[in-house]
Amino acid sequence: MIYLDNAATTLQKPASVPRAMAQAVQRCANPGRGGYAASMQAADTLLELRQAAADCFDADPEQVVLTMNATHGLNLAIRTLVSPGDRVVISGYEHNAVVRPLHALGAELSVASRALFDPARTAADFEAAISRDTKAVIVNHASNVFGYVQPVEEIAALCRQRGVPLIVDASQSAGILPISLRHLGAAFIAMPGHKALYGPQGTGLLLCGRLPDPLLFGGTGSQSRLPEMPDFLPDRAEAGTQNVPGAAGLLAGLGFVRGQGSALRVRERQCRAQLCRGLAAISGVQVFSGGADQLGVVSFRAAGMDCEDLAAQLAERGIAVRAGLHCAPLAHESAGTLGSGTVRASLGAFNRSEEIAAFLDAVEEILKKQEGTQEKPLPFHGFSCII
Ligand code: ALA
Repeated sequence: MIYLDNAATTLQKPASVPRAMAQAVQRCANPGRGGYAASMQAADTLLELRQAAADCFDADPEQVVLTMNATHGLNLAIRTLVSPGDRVVISGYEHNAVVRPLHALGAELSVASRALFDPARTAADFEAAISRDTKAVIVNHASNVFGYVQPVEEIAALCRQRGVPLIVDASQSAGILPISLRHLGAAFIAMPGHKALYGPQGTGLLLCGRLPDPLLFGGTGSQSRLPEMPDFLPDRAEAGTQNVPGAAGLLAGLGFVRGQGSALRVRERQCRAQLCRGLAAISGVQVFSGGADQLGVVSFRAAGMDCEDLAAQLAERGIAVRAGLHCAPLAHESAGTLGSGTVRASLGAFNRSEEIAAFLDAVEEILKKQEGTQEKPLPFHGFSCII
């Protein structure tokens, strides 16, 4: 299989990840619930993960809350900061993990910017959109549909100046781009463990610049006499037995990412450029590429061919991509692709140049075959390519 769905989850993990998980299953008891060796080993695993994440994302270990995924972290963050009727400024590239919790709360959404691959414009739009009655700003660091890297530093500076709390969705960027909780001064930064941090599914991290309200209530192994949740981090946001095997896997994944350093980003850039160039060269294909402002998440569509059909035909050839709206209709609306959706190819640490070449050949072959069966389709308009 050629796996190009890393924006959904990184399927190929370093060998250290399943190894660490298997060991944790065999050796770890309930963390923070006992003074015996197997319980202590579980507690140490969680502590080590918090420490490693704190080092990686410039936070204190207790500011690292372990979550099930980025959606869980975003719900915690949003429920803490937003009340019904509040005005919340978001980017035009937010995932349903942001839009749906806000909708459920009855928040008033203000979409600051729909600019794509234009960070200066995005920042200027946010400057204009944040007003006195803005209760929170939410921005995804990099779009899960287009890989657009939004100017999070500039937006964070605006939020600090105006005293508005900021939530960053780092689902696609964590593990690839540098992220500092301290420097951004964000209220919360949410990320999954199972994407570019190479941990297992069912893991995530919420970096907390402030005390979150609990989403789940229950045992924490601390202050057990109290009927309330503890008022300190991370216990306040972590009720119930933790996913220790998942944490062990995520710790190993983080170790892999930190060991690779900037090499991951450099290789990703090269593969993204090859992917974008190759797609742009195929007749009838519209590729959304943004040069330095894009991660290895590339959307495209082909005139005259349904995106889901194209993805299904790629799957028949052993190539995994994701097509449709990617749980982010707002992003598609912003880019003008809500009607058609896109096919998304997304890169990970284990993709090789030959795989991208084979993927490009397969797209070309499928489109040629399709061309023979229909009248000449109309080309797409309205988006210029920057490679
Ligand atoms: N949010 C993930 C994606 O973009 C699942 O595919």
